[in-house]
Amino acid sequence: MPPLRLLLTLLAAVAALAATPPSAAAAAGLGGGGDPAPTPTPWPEQFHAVVFTNLTDSGGRLQLIDLYYDWPRGRNLNIIRNQLSGDPLYDVEWTNGTSYYFDSASCRTVRFPVGLLPPDWLADGAVYLGREKVDGFDCHIWTKVDFILYYEDVVTHRPVRWNFYNGMQQHVMNFEVGGVLEDSQWQAPAHCFSNQDTTANAGASATTFDRVEGEGDKVDLMSSLLRFAGAPAAAVAAV
Ligand SMILES: *[C@@H]1O[C@H](CO)[C@@H](O)[C@H](O)[C@H]1NC(C)=O
Ligand SMILES: *[C@@H]1O[C@H](CO)[C@@H](O)[C@H](O)[C@H]1NC(C)=O
Repeated sequence: MPPLRLLLTLLAAVAALAATPPSAAAAAGLGGGGDPAPTPTPWPEQFHAVVFTNLTDSGGRLQLIDLYYDWPRGRNLNIIRNQLSGDPLYDVEWTNGTSYYFDSASCRTVRFPVGLLPPDWLADGAVYLGREKVDGFDCHIWTKVDFILYYEDVVTHRPVRWNFYNGMQQHVMNFEVGGVLEDSQWQAPAHCFSNQDTTANAGASATTFDRVEGEGDKVDLMSSLLRFAGAPAAAVAAV
């Protein structure tokens, strides 16, 4: 079921963005003339963030996530705590496309056709939408492939928030540059390797979608973003 779920997630996202005219917002943001649009700040190659996630608009709940982004080692980890639930869900993503979703009792392995987001993923093709006070911070706002709204603090250049067009909202509560997690914490447990029935391939869905829509790069970026943010984990956990 995960491939189908992923596809449905992507289709829902595309449907949602089709209803949103970002070009109008872009025009409003750029209308002043004069100053060139600012460029987004690349991420540090390693960081630890505490992310408050609001999924209530996309069929989920509230989550507190410990996010470890580790580009040099080709890995990204979301430790996801759902509201009022004890056992955290680990979502370990490797740049080779394999993701492990596990808690103390269960594990699911998913193979994606995409790797990790590079630190400068936003630089190429981002559209500047202007400046706004968000979560109480003065922010620059960009969008990319009409799928994400990205808010960066004007003064500190730290990310403050990102919203996906599928309704997922993430607020960055803490951003620790260079924050890393020891190797042992990345290792998927033995019960991830004992039952091959739990392995799913998300590649087929994306490929099918790609052929139908002819928008492969866009779908790849959307998949990478959902992977980065731990979004498929929510879908998988809900199965
Ligand atoms: C979650 O998002 C919904 C929809 O935008 C909003 O109404 C609600 O206040 C948010 N909840 C929290 C705790 O941020
Ligand atoms: C990707 O790397 C991880 C971690 O080293 C490994 O467990 C997994 O089997 C690899 N996946 C593939 C398809 O090689």
